[in-house]
Amino acid sequence: MTDEHVNQSNEKLVDPIAEDPGYNETETLIAVAGHPIHAMSVAFPVALSFCLLGADMIYWWTGDAFWARAALWAAGTGFLFGVLAAFSGTAELLLVSGIRARPAAWTHAIIAVTLLSVLGANWGHRLYGYEDAVLPYGILLSALGVAMVAFTGWHGGKLVFDYHLGTSKGS
Ligand code: HEM
Repeated sequence: MTDEHVNQSNEKLVDPIAEDPGYNETETLIAVAGHPIHAMSVAFPVALSFCLLGADMIYWWTGDAFWARAALWAAGTGFLFGVLAAFSGTAELLLVSGIRARPAAWTHAIIAVTLLSVLGANWGHRLYGYEDAVLPYGILLSALGVAMVAFTGWHGGKLVFDYHLGTSKGS
């Protein structure tokens, strides 16, 4: 789809957002040697959210306290690494004009912050007794976290693969 359309009287309609001079500036700024830090750091909260649900399910199946403790650690580290990932994502969102101009990037930020609140609530809930916390609310929060992280990650991937945000134009 192009940014310009023609109306019935053949006048060109111009999208004022796409006319923004910085609209096509979408290269990553928060990067190490051109490799975006956000893309590298999101792997941790994504994987830990899945580990958290896995540990909860094994605890439910076996009753072995080890898995409830593993779930406590997965919840805490998933949340903290998620906050770290959010810093690089937020910096990229605010500093890169072509990312800042696209509504999809803001949608991703809102979904991501909702995910972080679910992960944070899950961790806080377990700090007052990690075994009692698993059933039923801990595991329910973990299932919600996995659904949210899948949504966030899929949507973040869309920003990169469909809109080419945070990528490099090559040298
Ligand atoms: C407020 C928080 C966040 C903001 C503003 C944000 C912003 C962005 C932006 C602008 C991109 C495009 C690529 C780039 O510029 O680096 C992106 C990609 C992505 N984000 Fe986020 N993000 C946030 C939090 C998160 C969290 C918590 C997760 C997952 C746990 C996540 C998962 C992803 C994924 C998987 C990609 C695609 C990376 C790739 O395939 O290379 N984001 N995000």
